[in-house]
Amino acid sequence: MEGDLKLKKVLVLMGSPRARGNSTILATEAAKGAKSAGAEVETIRLAKLKISPCAACDGCRKPDANDCVRKDDMTPLYDKLRAADAILIAGPVYWFSISAQVKLFMDRFYAFGAESYKPLKGKRVGLILTYADADKVVSGAVNAIASFKDAFAYVKAPIIGIVHGSADKAGEVRANKALMVKAYALGRKLGA
Ligand SMILES: Cc1cc2nc3c(=O)[nH]c(=O)nc-3n(C[C@H](O)[C@H](O)[C@H](O)COP(=O)(O)O)c2cc1C
Repeated sequence: MEGDLKLKKVLVLMGSPRARGNSTILATEAAKGAKSAGAEVETIRLAKLKISPCAACDGCRKPDANDCVRKDDMTPLYDKLRAADAILIAGPVYWFSISAQVKLFMDRFYAFGAESYKPLKGKRVGLILTYADADKVVSGAVNAIASFKDAFAYVKAPIIGIVHGSADKAGEVRANKALMVKAYALGRKLGA
């Protein structure tokens, strides 16, 4: 059947400004996992994009609006998000919560509200978070995770896996073999 042959599209969004950062390394591992499951994977470095904050202008709610009325590097991401079957968001914990680079991107989901968030409904979501402190409570990763859970529950996109762990200097996470394996497995799950 044709439907069965269609490749799953996985959109991997990397939020760290560090090209060789820990969350980036785990996200790359997840992307490998998704590819090994047969998915078509596109990787985007959010921190390299110029994404303006949501202006709360409600321009996106006007009948002739085509997604957000602010045209910037977020503009092409709307259609990429629409087309994706699964989304992976990876990034560091900054100041006990979601990093600004990822938050800017997520705030702009507001434009999908013009369609009652249906463009995001049912997308499978994976999360990767790295932090310097010893565990998810002390680091504040719990706050980031709680925010992601609320946001994706709101848009009815199920989170199918969260991989998180401690690492500080860029690249340090490679030594955490168990975490690397978990990231790969999350990618496989998203791509299947
Ligand atoms: C601006 C900034 C804020 C940070 N805030 C936290 C924090 O609140 N909790 C924590 O455990 N680590 C914090 N860190 C450390 C990073 O989360 C950690 O180094 C992480 O592995 C970075 O991921 P990356 O290599 O993918 O960029 C912070 C780092 C920076 C640069």
